[in-house]
Amino acid sequence: MTRMALHTTILLFASKLAQAQLANTTSTTSTQPTPTAITPWNVTHYGGTVNITNNLAATPPMGWSSWNHYGPDINETVVRDTIDAVERLGLKDAGYVYINIDDGWQRYKGSREEHPLEVDPVKFPNGIKGVADYAHSKGFKLGIYSGPGVDTCAGYTGSEGHAEEDAKLFAEWGVDHLKYDSCCSHGTAPQAEVQQVMLDMSNALIATNRSIVFHACHCGWVNVWEWAAEEGANQWRIGQDISDDFNFVGNREKYYFDVLDMVDRGNEVAQYTGPGHWNDYDMLIVGLNGESKQLVGTGLSDIEYRTHFSLWALAASPLLIGANVANLSQYNLATLSAKEIIAVNQDPLGAPMYLQWSAKDNSTQIYAKALKDGAMAIALLNRGGEPAMITVSMREHLTVPWDVYKLRDLWKGQDRGPYDIPFTTEVRSHEAKVYRVEQVACTVGC
Ligand SMILES: *[C@@H]1O[C@H](CO)[C@@H](O)[C@H](O)[C@H]1NC(C)=O
Ligand SMILES: *[C@@H]1O[C@H](CO)[C@@H](O)[C@H](O)[C@H]1NC(C)=O
Ligand SMILES: *[C@@H]1O[C@H](CO)[C@@H](O)[C@H](O)[C@H]1NC(C)=O
Ligand SMILES: *[C@@H]1O[C@H](CO)[C@@H](O)[C@H](O)[C@H]1NC(C)=O
Ligand SMILES: *[C@@H]1O[C@H](CO)[C@@H](O)[C@H](O)[C@H]1NC(C)=O
Ligand SMILES: *[C@@H]1O[C@H](CO)[C@@H](O)[C@H](O)[C@H]1NC(C)=O
Ligand SMILES: *[C@@H]1O[C@H](CO)[C@@H](O)[C@H](O)[C@H]1NC(C)=O
Repeated sequence: MTRMALHTTILLFASKLAQAQLANTTSTTSTQPTPTAITPWNVTHYGGTVNITNNLAATPPMGWSSWNHYGPDINETVVRDTIDAVERLGLKDAGYVYINIDDGWQRYKGSREEHPLEVDPVKFPNGIKGVADYAHSKGFKLGIYSGPGVDTCAGYTGSEGHAEEDAKLFAEWGVDHLKYDSCCSHGTAPQAEVQQVMLDMSNALIATNRSIVFHACHCGWVNVWEWAAEEGANQWRIGQDISDDFNFVGNREKYYFDVLDMVDRGNEVAQYTGPGHWNDYDMLIVGLNGESKQLVGTGLSDIEYRTHFSLWALAASPLLIGANVANLSQYNLATLSAKEIIAVNQDPLGAPMYLQWSAKDNSTQIYAKALKDGAMAIALLNRGGEPAMITVSMREHLTVPWDVYKLRDLWKGQDRGPYDIPFTTEVRSHEAKVYRVEQVACTVGC
């Protein structure tokens, strides 16, 4: 099941949404449209131009999701307390503004054919509107969850056959983000069917005129990265659920993807990401500490969680914290708050992270992401069990004629160089050192 997506036949699909919605603008600013009209935009995307239809998520969405820590045991208190904690701990200032309610907010378990979609009045006595109003009053945005089946992954009523009605409901409540999860209801469905149900909801959201970021969540199947952007999706999962493991041997062939599995998958589809349409490496596991009741895994060390965060940041993945934020250790809080790492994730160019070089045994790797100001962010990753020296050459590994260059260590906040020879540093086991690299001079064949 894990690899089936990569072998699925590509079905060309004419996006009626794109045709209906394309208007006029080429804007690439992050300003959001007014509530009365959704302004489409074009962006350059894997060699062509695609019609990104809702003009949202110019940079990867950042926030929190309830699933990894709470599962379906959520309520208004949890959401309000999380909003307060995210603000109090400085995470809102760091950019985490989406507070996403995942599965379990619905009143009924069972099929939509037998039950209406309503909010659980015990868990949310003031409705979703109540928590949305609270989120908005504090400068946050509120996300919600549904799926295109008669029921959802956790068995609550889904949106099948009711996309328009449900999109209207979400818009009335003041929802700003929708995770629309087809992993369970359409896990074995053919590509055309998944495309249709995602398009139905995307169209329905756009028709509400409310700016709602659309996450077409399909667990990395049926080449979702190839078509979701053109349907107006702002993000899509590139793989199955993440596990709370850095590199759990044997994980790869099972359902869960550990951190390195997700990075390897991301390498295969890097070119599909960009402003408004992001490859989603799944929710952050920082701070779960092997205690999640939803995910398998034994947890990561501090440094491994930091490496995970660094790679998600460079890959321009959405950054959704999954932990109970009020209970984060100082170290993990510092990891999630690292302004210079987050700036790489939020860089307005929205360039992918590319694998530039691997040792023969893949134990060490060099990754790079172009930045809007012409600099580059690089990660020197040691996947092996022992400390390793990693050397990076501008011309050989990064393919730029930067014969004199300087670096800034983004975890230490230290400037290095200028240098005119390759840079060598020791990287601990399971560590990623992250640098911003800038050209100082080109001296030969410039
Ligand atoms: C974008 O929309 C225009 C106008 O509807 C259409 O001609 C074009 O094919 C669309 N492009 C893509 C990549 O879908
Ligand atoms: C499209 O945008 C251009 C420049 O902003 C403007 O002059 C033109 O009137 C617009 N066309 C439509 C159909 O809105
Ligand atoms: C957007 O892209 C489509 C497809 O390439 C093109 O037909 C259309 O003219 C573009 N619109 C603008 C405003 O650039
Ligand atoms: C809300 O959910 C939390 C976490 O599951 C739980 O500890 C708490 O008792 C719940 N509160 C109410 C009022 O249901
Ligand atoms: C959305 O906006 C368009 C034009 O701005 C308007 O015609 C339409 O009625 C609006 N739809 C809703 C649901 O408000
Ligand atoms: C808080 O974190 C500690 C240390 O990881 C852990 O033992 C405890 O179970 C956590 N409590 C909650 C409510 O998450
Ligand atoms: C290194 O990684 C690549 C890409 O994931 C893979 O194809 C190759 O088999 C790996 N090589 C070794 C020696 O593990």
